Amino acid sequence: MKRLTLGVGILCCLLAIVACSQKTRQMETPEYDKGINIIPLPKELTETGESFTLDSKTKIIVAAEELKPIAEFLAGKLQASADLSPEILIGDEPTSNSIYIGVDPMLTLKEEGYTLQSGKKGVIIKGKSAHGAFYGMQSLLQLLPSEVESPKEVALAWEIPGVDIQDEPRFGYRGFMLDVCRHFLSVDEVKKHIDIMAMFKINRFHWHLTEDQAWRIEIKKYPRLTEVGSTRTEGDGTEYAGFYTQDEVREVVRYAAERFITVIPEIELPGHALAALAAYPQLACYPRDFKPRIIWGVEQDVYCAGKDSVFSFIQDVIDEVAPLFPGEYFHIGGDECPKDRWKTCPLCQKRIRENGLKDEHELQSYFIRRAEEMLQKHGKKLIGWDEILEGGLAPSATVMSWRGEEGGVAAANMNHDVIMTPMSGGLYINFYHGDPTVEPVSIGGSSSLQTVYEYNPLPKELPADKHHYVLGAQVNLWAEYLYTADLYDYHAYPHMLALAEATWSPLDKKNYEDFCRRLENASVRMDMHGINYHIPQPEQPNGSSGFVAFTDSVKLTFTTSRPIKMVYTLDESEPTPESAAYTAPLEFTESGILKIRSVMAGGKMSPVRTIRVEKQAYSPAMDVPGAKPGLTTRTAHGNFYDVPDLAQATSWRVGSITSFGEMVKEQLVNSLDEVQRSAVEATGYVLIPEDGVYEFSTDNSEFWIDNVKLIDNVGEVKKYSRKNSSRALQKGYHPIKTIWVGAVQGGWPTYWSSRNILIRRAGEEKFAPITAEMLFR
Ligand code: ACM
Ligand code: ZN
Repeated sequence: MKRLTLGVGILCCLLAIVACSQKTRQMETPEYDKGINIIPLPKELTETGESFTLDSKTKIIVAAEELKPIAEFLAGKLQASADLSPEILIGDEPTSNSIYIGVDPMLTLKEEGYTLQSGKKGVIIKGKSAHGAFYGMQSLLQLLPSEVESPKEVALAWEIPGVDIQDEPRFGYRGFMLDVCRHFLSVDEVKKHIDIMAMFKINRFHWHLTEDQAWRIEIKKYPRLTEVGSTRTEGDGTEYAGFYTQDEVREVVRYAAERFITVIPEIELPGHALAALAAYPQLACYPRDFKPRIIWGVEQDVYCAGKDSVFSFIQDVIDEVAPLFPGEYFHIGGDECPKDRWKTCPLCQKRIRENGLKDEHELQSYFIRRAEEMLQKHGKKLIGWDEILEGGLAPSATVMSWRGEEGGVAAANMNHDVIMTPMSGGLYINFYHGDPTVEPVSIGGSSSLQTVYEYNPLPKELPADKHHYVLGAQVNLWAEYLYTADLYDYHAYPHMLALAEATWSPLDKKNYEDFCRRLENASVRMDMHGINYHIPQPEQPNGSSGFVAFTDSVKLTFTTSRPIKMVYTLDESEPTPESAAYTAPLEFTESGILKIRSVMAGGKMSPVRTIRVEKQAYSPAMDVPGAKPGLTTRTAHGNFYDVPDLAQATSWRVGSITSFGEMVKEQLVNSLDEVQRSAVEATGYVLIPEDGVYEFSTDNSEFWIDNVKLIDNVGEVKKYSRKNSSRALQKGYHPIKTIWVGAVQGGWPTYWSSRNILIRRAGEEKFAPITAEMLFR
């Protein structure tokens, strides 16, 4: 025992010596730390060539007590990463070897503006306000090596290049919307996003707190909102739950305020309210046993606009929520409210008649106006999605333009404030960041980094004298497919940084190529915060595939959604930054396994893509005497979740179809209760027109050809197939089989998937469905 203790002691000493020698051996400045890397790009920046290096005597001097938290924020970073403990003093003047932080209200800059000068003697930051000073301090952190964000000590020269900066934002509203309803983030996870927002000068946090799928904020007067409304039973039978207590909400608001971020709550009305109706069914036009929705999309049951009790409920909720959020804005949703129930509800119709409203759209406007009045009592301004234009805009409403820019342009032309967040501008950052066949499943759409970067919140159609109504822009992170906190990160970053520059930096100074260069530095900063940001993966043009069949030879070409180095191996080892760099298409004449990934300047790598390349002879066709058109089906009823459950199917009903589209007749809109659940298997032959290599794609659970399972989607969300695969086929009949299982998987009902099998010949750009003319049994 004693010897063991001694042994451990010696080991500790050795480790301490190694650590010590590492500490004294300073890292050479990595490439990503060279140059000026500030995001968002400052309005004016001149390099003076006179740098300043922090040492143990460097002080932080603040001009007033109110600036001390900013100095403490900076000192905290320096303490953790640089092992420096700068003294914080209050004083009027910078001294030598100091970082001075002051406020000068006379600066001819906007409220959030600041100046920063660094030189031999130190750094002088002057904010137009404390908010501006905070941003000056954030820019200073970005002038230091990216390792300043490290929570652990790093041995480096803490050098600040000499610069003269005059900076202010182009827009006052630079926002990030976080949906914590479709999935949920803990308070600590939310704070992690707030940290990154603050680094890049994002100043509005729009917190989407209620939905069809969940109610996430404690309301003391209505405890069932969270008791019932914050938990749902998913399609696989598991429970998904989470909500914030009012104390937790206050904590997030406080944490954000310390970082000069205003939190804007969103309480959805009159639609997207099923979780509230599950808690209090009497708030619906037609009360029944509602459950929080477990499939994505839009629920038809909404708050009844005819019941006075609904307006009392909304007033009560606003009365509890408004005081938690000191900011001036309150978001009431207003989007995607189906009018189906209101059209037949006697109370809604009575409300329409009694208020002289024209139709249900004016009833929606009536609803929003009443919410506006309730908010005004709390001194809050209403924000709503652009549907609040329907039936007439509430007098003081600010419009969040999402379906395009048209709503925003219309509202600004009516002299209303506008926040731009159009899907078409790439600002729905939960959309795909690259090729859907390699990216994690997403709701659809496209949000490339460059599109977000190049977004200009001022639409061409908007006359110059209305420009001031555009307060700014926001990226939205909807969370339907964000099953984990890592996936939230993956979609948020680096896109949020692109929005930061699109809303802060002067239009004529923006430069995507230079932004990508600075992003290498910013990414290392994000690494220090444990952010799982998106790294573009190697993609094959026209849709990627992990299995490529060929007969003679094949060339594989790769691209990435933004310029980034790709590395690969052919010996099944995992590629490292030192592996062979991809520079030109890779030719295969024999079978092999290619592993390829992207690598950032800081050494961080994308996931590995493994591509099996297989040399094949044409798989022989079959003789099918008496083949007749169509496919044979067998259908089993039961609550199956996916193919493995079909072993329990006891009775199968045999039938026939002429095309894949006929496999399933049931339609599903709101819930699985609407359908008798089933699984369908279709078998037959596909008639291949010519010898060739064919690639297949499907969202069904399985697709077989020549008795080989070519596509296995079990375990996947059956949307945007990520399992496309190919086979060399002789002209003629080939046996096929496909299996579809009716279930809700990851919030996606397979009832909404196409049942088609798509096919294309190798080299063709587009897939086409296998047509009825190609199917036989
Ligand atoms: C929205 O995406 N429904 C605002
Ligand atoms: Zn009603």
